[in-house]
Amino acid sequence: MRYQSVASFSDNREPDAILLVHRQGLRLSCMKTSTQTDDRFQRGAHKYAAYLDTPEGRLRLDLAFATLQEFLPVRQAGHSLSALDLGGGTGAAAVRLAKLDFHVTLLDSSPAMLEIAERAARDAGVIDKIVLEHGDVSQSASLFQSGSFDLILCHNLLEYVDDPGAVLRGLGRMMRGSPAILSILVRNQAGEVFKAAIQAGDLAAAEHNLSAGWGQESLYGGKVRLFTPEALEPMLQEASLTPVARRGVRVIADYLPPQISRSHEYHRILELERKLGNRMEFAAAARYIQFLARRMS
Ligand SMILES: C[S@@+](CC[C@H](N)C(=O)[O-])C[C@H]1O[C@@H](n2cnc3c(N)ncnc32)[C@H](O)[C@@H]1O
Repeated sequence: MRYQSVASFSDNREPDAILLVHRQGLRLSCMKTSTQTDDRFQRGAHKYAAYLDTPEGRLRLDLAFATLQEFLPVRQAGHSLSALDLGGGTGAAAVRLAKLDFHVTLLDSSPAMLEIAERAARDAGVIDKIVLEHGDVSQSASLFQSGSFDLILCHNLLEYVDDPGAVLRGLGRMMRGSPAILSILVRNQAGEVFKAAIQAGDLAAAEHNLSAGWGQESLYGGKVRLFTPEALEPMLQEASLTPVARRGVRVIADYLPPQISRSHEYHRILELERKLGNRMEFAAAARYIQFLARRMS
């Protein structure tokens, strides 16, 4: 295995404890707060990789990445750009960034995800541009120096951590000054209302989701935290981050009638989704919310 292991599970560990092994060899022990989270990402890694190949999975990735590309920091002569992909999973975004010449660090708590990411980086010929690190995001402040990254991705991770606000506060410190950009992608509460009503035809669930703080995770099982832009914005502010853009990701694609082929019409759907996600009246009900943010100067 090529990735640096900054956290490793000992075989005879206490059920609720993990051993974190710092890159310099320092051993720290800390409480692991959510055993279920790690298990489901470990067990569900291949299922997740398969989902990313479906039109829905591709759309989430392509839409979020297209927005990100509008805000990428500009490379200065003689300087390479560095990116951190937190909870980077199977490496889909990290590989794209590496192809754009970023030096990418991908941190993830699931070894199974990291193995898939390693293979993807190797297959894409960018293994030299990606460092894969095994660790928990709650430890990132002690793993990475402040001001290290020009770009940080935090895509579909905050849904699964105990304290999203604490993660965001840590990210602000790791960004390299005010040109650095942070991209956050989270599950949108309003999207869960539409999904329950239109996709499942479950009116009771739709009504419940109007104020639900948690949804059911259909891919991995268990719970998933839901966000609203109104809740996320103050969290960004507390972390000294200013939003520079907000987009909706997947507004209508999940509800198209079966006669529309998701694969044959992929590019038309993508283009329409880009327009819808950029208009707040549609974006408000998207499956995901994406925020681009910079550090307050
Ligand atoms: C839904 S996947 C998203 C993967 C990737 N960011 C993407 O957009 O495709 C969530 C990822 O976060 C990782 N993860 C969950 N909790 C974590 C934690 N506390 N620390 C680090 N990674 C975590 C999981 O292992 C998984 O790879």
